[in-house]
Amino acid sequence: MSGSVGVALLGAGNIGSGVIAALVRSAGRYAARVGRPLEVRHVLVRDMLRPRPGVASGLITGDLGVILEDAETRIVIELMGGEEPARAYIERCLRAGRHVVTANKEVMAKAGGELLQIAHEHGVRLLYEASVGGGIPIIAPLSRDLLANEVTAVTAIINGTTNYMLTAMAQQGADYEDVLAEAQALGYAEPDPTADVEGIDASFKLAVLCGLAFNVAVAPEQIARQGISGIAAVDIAYAEQLGYVIKLLARARLVDGEVEATVQPTLVPVEEPLAKVDGVLNAVQIEGDLVGRVVFEGPGAGPGPTASSVLADVLDAAQDVVAGRAPLAFVPRRTVRVRPPEEHRSRYYLRITVQDRPGVLARIAQALGDAQISIASFIQYEVEGAEGTAELVFTTHHADGGALRGAIGVIEAMDVVQEIGNVLPMAGEEAAR
Ligand code: NDP
Ligand code: HSE
Repeated sequence: MSGSVGVALLGAGNIGSGVIAALVRSAGRYAARVGRPLEVRHVLVRDMLRPRPGVASGLITGDLGVILEDAETRIVIELMGGEEPARAYIERCLRAGRHVVTANKEVMAKAGGELLQIAHEHGVRLLYEASVGGGIPIIAPLSRDLLANEVTAVTAIINGTTNYMLTAMAQQGADYEDVLAEAQALGYAEPDPTADVEGIDASFKLAVLCGLAFNVAVAPEQIARQGISGIAAVDIAYAEQLGYVIKLLARARLVDGEVEATVQPTLVPVEEPLAKVDGVLNAVQIEGDLVGRVVFEGPGAGPGPTASSVLADVLDAAQDVVAGRAPLAFVPRRTVRVRPPEEHRSRYYLRITVQDRPGVLARIAQALGDAQISIASFIQYEVEGAEGTAELVFTTHHADGGALRGAIGVIEAMDVVQEIGNVLPMAGEEAAR
């Protein structure tokens, strides 16, 4: 073995170039931590002709085989994104006895259990701190520091792009499209930002967190999901009047041995810690039987914070390489029932646009009452520039998701109802079933 620890990158885009820059800038400090220098030996990209400032052209390759044939490359850092070929490349690296560090939440959400098993069988590590919460340490604390707890709930803001957007829309009245473009320019968004704004990225991250927090396998498609594209400025304004802010909340609970998992724009009471997590910040709140409630907060996206997490894993794996340490035991994930949204209980915010006529409110209240949904508060607003139209904003006490869906169907069919503007869950005082 040479005097250095060989490293290869798969991907040198937004995050990969940040990782390479930090490896150069902090080479001396990292060498001191590991006991040997880290040496970047290969950088795999799609477009081999594109100029890559700071990367020697001799390192660039388009062929994973070149990396796997190089016995000096001990750690592979996957920063390509997307499911394939990233998943297949990770698997090939693990099977070839390479430690792998990845920031890829899609792969870890869809195939993490299987890949961790393969890593274990081949005596190597698969590390993924950067896959959730950008620069926030959360994978390592759940894997180690909180292990003695039975974790019962995870409540998180785990998408930097949407939190940046919702904050700017609430605090500056910013326009949705403008603020999305800003988040993209700052390097927060996924290559296809639909993954951010439709809650897909957050559902991948929540699936990863469920695996660690509850040791259960939850597939992303089992997570009830709603993005922020349907949030109107009026919803943000009404929420504020009610004493709430709207956040894209990822929530998972273990209830009677079953899992409830959702990613939805949610009204969060202003006094809750998560309501104050603004801009690109993310936060993950964990509830455990021993520790009570802990909150991890920090920058959730961007090249610097993400490189911080990626490189922590690289240094960890490099220390293992130098010490010749074997990976820890692998505990396969349990399979439990994941409750459909109809069985979730929550308080709800409803915004309904109606004809402003006698008896309309009574009919809507009746439909909610028939479904056993109790109204907690109600406000009627006149719609500016639309005479004869009113906007009704209700909040409810805890109700079953299925009952609410039924009542909304009845209300939507009423001739006096113009539009169901929005139906959003409200956080706080979780319901006991
Ligand atoms: P980019 O799209 O900026 O970069 C992707 C890189 O991978 C590019 O260098 C690209 O090559 C290369 N690549 C993509 N597909 C292939 C392929 N088939 N073969 C070879 N090379 C390929 O993505 P990001 O850097 O923004 O994201 C990387 C990962 O980090 C993703 O998994 C993302 O979810 C994750 N992440 C991102 C965060 C953020 O703040 N943006 C935060 C945390 C995680 P080329 O340059 O030639 O196009
Ligand atoms: N697009 C992701 C976000 C990157 O905005 O949170 C961090 O995973």
